[in-house]
Amino acid sequence: MVELKWKGKVEREDSISKIYETKPLHILDIYPSISSDFKSEQKWQNLLIWGDNKSVMNSLLDEFKNKISLIYIDPPFATGSNFNLKIQIGEDGKYIDDIAYKDKWKEGLETYLDFLHERLILMRELLKNSGSIFVHLDWHISHYIKLIMDEIFGIENFRNEIIWAYPAASVKTRSFFIRSYDTILFYSKTDNYVFNDDPNIYMEYSNRVKNALKKDEQGIFYYRGGSHNRKKLSRKVYVEKEGIFPRDVWNDIPYIRANTSEYQGFSTQKPERLLKRIILSSTKENDIIADFFCGSGTTLAVAEKLGRYWIGCDSNKHAIHMTRKRILNLSQSNDMINWNKNYDKNAQRFKIECIDKKEEEYTLSDAFLKREIVDDKGLKVKETPEFKTKIHQNDNRIVIELIDYKIPFIDLISEKVLENIKSFSDWIDYWAIDFDSKNNIFKNMFFSYRNPKFRTLSLRSDGHYYDKPGHYNVLVKVIDIFGIETMKKHEIKLMQ
Ligand SMILES: C[S@@+](CC[C@H](N)C(=O)[O-])C[C@H]1O[C@@H](n2cnc3c(N)ncnc32)[C@H](O)[C@@H]1O
Repeated sequence: MVELKWKGKVEREDSISKIYETKPLHILDIYPSISSDFKSEQKWQNLLIWGDNKSVMNSLLDEFKNKISLIYIDPPFATGSNFNLKIQIGEDGKYIDDIAYKDKWKEGLETYLDFLHERLILMRELLKNSGSIFVHLDWHISHYIKLIMDEIFGIENFRNEIIWAYPAASVKTRSFFIRSYDTILFYSKTDNYVFNDDPNIYMEYSNRVKNALKKDEQGIFYYRGGSHNRKKLSRKVYVEKEGIFPRDVWNDIPYIRANTSEYQGFSTQKPERLLKRIILSSTKENDIIADFFCGSGTTLAVAEKLGRYWIGCDSNKHAIHMTRKRILNLSQSNDMINWNKNYDKNAQRFKIECIDKKEEEYTLSDAFLKREIVDDKGLKVKETPEFKTKIHQNDNRIVIELIDYKIPFIDLISEKVLENIKSFSDWIDYWAIDFDSKNNIFKNMFFSYRNPKFRTLSLRSDGHYYDKPGHYNVLVKVIDIFGIETMKKHEIKLMQ
């Protein structure tokens, strides 16, 4: 057998449970499918998990070993660069760039290969026997990872090396050819895997074919194909479906542009159409799809819109928050089948979980800090922001209003951020209320948030009616532009 070796490579294959320590997952938030409908019991809740995917996958093994139908990952590509996400501030939506993730591997290629190797092994464990995995990479590393995939998934389970080609308009190099494609490695777990011939995954005909289309006497389209008999192509090739069954070179999907409605402000965000082709080809409705490097949540949004269940994970808190808002705002995004229409439905129930619950201090990333204190690691702060609310009670109806928000570390914050803060509410990106909090799980019964295009935050909640008299714990949660979550509890007494 041929195998890729690197310094420090561990033979992990058959001893997964011995290597990894299982940590519990904690629920941070739950979201209903229809606002405040937490009563209808549903078996499955989609899952968004904040944490390092190695621990997360390990913790998922108990419940999800051999359960996941499709894994798509778009990990760092070992580029040696940092990648940004945009943090928008307040009503105006001006933004600052923050680092989304660092793709620098100081110890060299070995660390990167080790990093992905152990995670790919966990992914194999989680996949169903009829499942598939798509690993999105580029020229930096895909040739190494293909060997590792052969080793973990079996060379006989290699299905495609998909070339996603896009125009690279802004590149100025004249010393080599311009690099303008990514590589997606597609492996199945076994040779008995799901693969659908679905017209919704078809590629459009090329312009050459479209121009050559003719109608026959019955009005059916055909073009001339087959061998050349000197004068003309000999055979009529009838067009049965719109477009052609996809080849492994995908040049019909453009890169994300900032003016599209799907753009979330994440620099390495992938197009929804790319995930549509992958998901429709390799899963059935109600299958479970996972993306353990979910970034802005593209895979999860497309899975949801195509009626699949999903699990997403990211180690960056801003990415988790961006994904939360993307899923909450799904009804306003493009429908996957009728692209020119809105999806118009709310997402199904989902919950947000994390691995290490206790956050005693927060890291303010360098993007927010005054230049003199920037040191490439961010700054740890212990004092949390404080907010004030006003409760409007009318018999059994409660409305909560946010009336102030103060951050104690304001003297550390850069001018660039401060000049966008005109009112206390500009610090706030999201807030939510659980009107009847029990067992520390936050039910988002009311929420308001700023999304990339619609920046207004409602500072007064909708009215909440209580059915019965009694004592209720009301929890209010605020998430600010730094990603810091603050909570406050109120007790409400309702008399007979
Ligand atoms: C290329 S981006 C994914 C972009 C995504 N496909 C999209 O469309 O938005 C890679 C993501 O992997 C995350 N990441 C990197 N290392 C991770 C780890 N060990 N565990 C979980 N997430 C990780 C980064 O925070 C980043 O959001």
